[in-house]
Amino acid sequence: MEKELQRLKEEAEKELEQICEAQHLEPFRVKYLGRKGGLLSGAMKQLRTVSKEDRPRLGALANSIKQEIESLFEAKKETLSLPVASARSLDTSLPGRTLPEGKLHPVTQVMEEICSIFEGLGFAVAEGPDVETDYYNFEALNIPPHHPARDMHDTFYVTDSILLRTHTSPMQARIMENQDPPLRYIAPGKVYRCDSDITHTPMFHQVEGFLVDRDVSFADLKGVLTSFTHNMFGKELDLRFRPSFFPFTEPSAEVDIACVICEGKGCRVCKRTGWLEILGSGLIDPEVMKMVGYDPDVYSGFAFGLGVERIAMLKYGIDDIRMYYENDLRFLSQF
Ligand code: DAH
Repeated sequence: MEKELQRLKEEAEKELEQICEAQHLEPFRVKYLGRKGGLLSGAMKQLRTVSKEDRPRLGALANSIKQEIESLFEAKKETLSLPVASARSLDTSLPGRTLPEGKLHPVTQVMEEICSIFEGLGFAVAEGPDVETDYYNFEALNIPPHHPARDMHDTFYVTDSILLRTHTSPMQARIMENQDPPLRYIAPGKVYRCDSDITHTPMFHQVEGFLVDRDVSFADLKGVLTSFTHNMFGKELDLRFRPSFFPFTEPSAEVDIACVICEGKGCRVCKRTGWLEILGSGLIDPEVMKMVGYDPDVYSGFAFGLGVERIAMLKYGIDDIRMYYENDLRFLSQF
């Protein structure tokens, strides 16, 4: 009898261990723990046939085996009712969960690319304050008080003499004031103007560049900007220097490139002209030189300023600048 009970216990334990689906639980319960016809109940009944002396001991044993099987059964039931993942043991061969990968904003990417091209041409990078004084933003750049750029409609003023810089050109004066030529700098950063439509945002990015030395000519400016555009757009696009005016350069020129879309044949993007304007430039005005204490008869230099969003729009064929600032991941994750 005792052996019989032990065998029954082992058999039940083994069978229970192999169960891994909840649907097999009930047949197991009926087979071993069922009140009528269950194997353990059957064994209990047989106790009547054993001798009086053995009955208490064997009865206790049968009871403890029944309890044990019952509690193992309950534990199994619990495990199988848990969600699948936590019910199974940890699978250390599974690959880890990767965090979503961040990317640089397309404008940052283009700005870094612009900087690295100029660094390759020997320019150093300098950054200056977004909150600027009227002096550096305007006066030091030969922009007189009556100039339209000073209008409240274009400039965000903080006080009468402090403002959010409207361009990165103030860095010309800031750097020249503190250093002697030869100088070769670019100054990337944010600029602000009270303006908003499909080609203007109140904040955008510019890269200013300038070079001062003895005998710097317009040919040097042309060489540097030609090399830059060829690097930036990856092909030898034609350049056009169109006479223009800026108070801090003389002569001044706006630079157009042959349309990156139609290569000069004329299309919607270049408004059928074949050309796209990409930057302003010129030879540094002698007045600007004088204000920082340089002798314009000894030194000359060139300067240029380009809009980063504009270059990014041309490079990627984006026709609405506001897309860069809507923070739509479907747009941003393409870069
Ligand atoms: N500061 C000008 C602007 O924001 C751009 C510019 C034009 C910069 C000519 C220059 C330059 O250095 O020479 O419109």
